[in-house]
Amino acid sequence: MTAEIISGTQVAADIRQELAQEVKELKAKGVTPGLAVVLVGEDPASISYVTAKAKGAEEVGVHEETFRLPADSTEDAVLKKVAELNQDPRFHGILVQLPLPKDMDEKKLTYTILPEKDVDAFHPVNVGKLLIGEPDFLPCTPHGVMQLLTRSGNDPSGKYLVIVGRSNIVGKPLMAMMVQKAKGANATVTVVHTGTADMAHYVKEADIVIAAAGRPNMVTAEMVKDGAVVIDVGVNRIPDDTKKSGFRLVGDVDFEAVKEKAKAITPVPGGVGPMTVTMLLVNTVRAAARTAGS
Ligand SMILES: NC(=O)c1ccc[n+]([C@@H]2O[C@H](COP(=O)([O-])OP(=O)(O)OC[C@H]3O[C@@H](n4cnc5c(N)ncnc54)[C@H](OP(=O)(O)O)[C@@H]3O)[C@@H](O)[C@H]2O)c1
Repeated sequence: MTAEIISGTQVAADIRQELAQEVKELKAKGVTPGLAVVLVGEDPASISYVTAKAKGAEEVGVHEETFRLPADSTEDAVLKKVAELNQDPRFHGILVQLPLPKDMDEKKLTYTILPEKDVDAFHPVNVGKLLIGEPDFLPCTPHGVMQLLTRSGNDPSGKYLVIVGRSNIVGKPLMAMMVQKAKGANATVTVVHTGTADMAHYVKEADIVIAAAGRPNMVTAEMVKDGAVVIDVGVNRIPDDTKKSGFRLVGDVDFEAVKEKAKAITPVPGGVGPMTVTMLLVNTVRAAARTAGS
């Protein structure tokens, strides 16, 4: 079997088109969705993520502003900026681009964002609401995974789903989403991590495997059952002399071998990556819609 390739680039483009229509309708009601991004310092990866967010926002008609603060800013200066943005009605969504400079308390800054403007869904209030099945916002990368599954006709309901990785931004929130008695979820979920004695034992049984470990090619063909659906969240740089940059991006899944066994698989790049920014825009538009009472 050669797997169907689930294109995140295509699914993200479809969602952005739907979103552009929703933004038009909100603007007709006098509400322009607004997203504020706080960027501290000049980290090149952070700059490229922020640029992608700004470009995506422009594409769907969301008003986006990036507030750049120098790397040597005090924590108080960043807290003050977030507090200002909390009160600014032009912005329905706020995010602080991570990582922050080492001497700053990321948690403190993230938790300062009002939960109703927390479009990354990192605030404990939003994490708690997610767990009890009453989310205002779904976290962006896990929501992207959910959309890739449902829009490719691979509804997780009734399936055995194994997540590799238990981070607070991918593995744990994905677990909380997929276990819900809700549309696009309702799966039987196992989370494996470095404390799991025999990870392959669980992955081999999975109807759906979601790899989010940040380890190149760790999910091999031997570990995947025939006909499984495989979603690769991992983004890893590996050296490649044929590239000008000297590296290329690979996921956590041995794509070439696993695609011969799986029913469907996402590529890296072009899989989960394009979904994350798109789901951030979805959250911003939802937050704006709430203020418009719709
Ligand atoms: N495409 C996107 O939009 C997007 C968004 C977010 C992240 N990512 C990518 O997804 C990957 C994961 O990101 P993250 O932030 O969740 O990473 P993270 O915070 O480093 O967490 C990695 C998780 O994987 C587990 N793990 C690592 N090596 C393992 C192994 N050999 N066996 C079993 N479990 C293992 C770790 O287990 P322990 O907890 O036991 O240490 C941890 O729970 C990274 O490659 C990242 O770049 C992509």
